[in-house]
Amino acid sequence: AHHILLDVDTGVDDAMAIMFAIRHPEIDVRAITCVDGNVPLPRVVEHTCRVLDALGAPQQIPVAAGASRPLLESPRDAAHAHGADGLAGIELPASERPVSELHAIEVIRRAIEESAQPLTLVALAPLTNVALLLRMYPEVAAQLEGIVLMGGSAAVGNATPVAEFNVWHDPEAARIVFESELPVRMYGLDVFDRVGLDEAAVAHLTASTDPLTTALGELLGFWLRDEDGVPGGPEVARIGDAGAVCSLVAPELMDIRSLPVRVETSAGPARGQTIVDRRRGPGEDAEHGLAEIGRRIDVVLAAQEEAVARLFL
Ligand code: BDR
Ligand code: CA
Repeated sequence: AHHILLDVDTGVDDAMAIMFAIRHPEIDVRAITCVDGNVPLPRVVEHTCRVLDALGAPQQIPVAAGASRPLLESPRDAAHAHGADGLAGIELPASERPVSELHAIEVIRRAIEESAQPLTLVALAPLTNVALLLRMYPEVAAQLEGIVLMGGSAAVGNATPVAEFNVWHDPEAARIVFESELPVRMYGLDVFDRVGLDEAAVAHLTASTDPLTTALGELLGFWLRDEDGVPGGPEVARIGDAGAVCSLVAPELMDIRSLPVRVETSAGPARGQTIVDRRRGPGEDAEHGLAEIGRRIDVVLAAQEEAVARLFL
């Protein structure tokens, strides 16, 4: 089994990732921590609890609130990209689920210390909580098996022409995480944008008599509506953050390479970009401009899109 901690900013696709992780027989979710991102922190927490209720997830899985803003930046949410309420307008009942009184960082620390097995931290949101953990409890964080994150891009961005939202939202935090000593796997926007279901598959889910399946269909279908008016919206109903969770259970469906990556934090149009060095042999020929531009991490460069989408269902 994969023993994981989930850090989320629920969020349409974070909701789908939570559904996938909780229901997957080989995934054991030890805690869910929330961070400011897609929507302000209190809404992230409420959405997360509603999704867990809909799943009938055990109350023993702690839910905790973490950072309510990025390290240096002001909060800049992406609610417009997730529907007016930040959850595609699906109607889930308000939650009575208890939320931990501890800060997310303390909940993560406890989970790591109390676990008999190494845990993987799966971060699907701006990396503020993860960076704080690395700075506050480095020895505890060092016990993690690794960090799997949705963020960055080996190609274009969405928040800016070159920056992906989760990294752009808190570039300093991302840099702390990318430059940490832990194994990091980046599931970036270029892959994120391509893994999804077609309209017919979504319609089939939405028509289900099972309310949870209908909700999933509505979440997926939201991406096809192209609310933001950008021409040429996604061709598929993206499974989004859930794809990063899929990479845990089916890495063989992904093309994963160890590549030097740098998070750009300087002011200006490149802030928040992840520069992924895909040239051949970086580091082998420093004199000729092939010095490594950042630490090597595992970058998901491509996925067997249909197979991953099937796995998600
Ligand atoms: C990322 O930003 C959020 O909108 C999504 O939940 C995802 O984690 C994509 O850039
Ligand atoms: Ca997210």
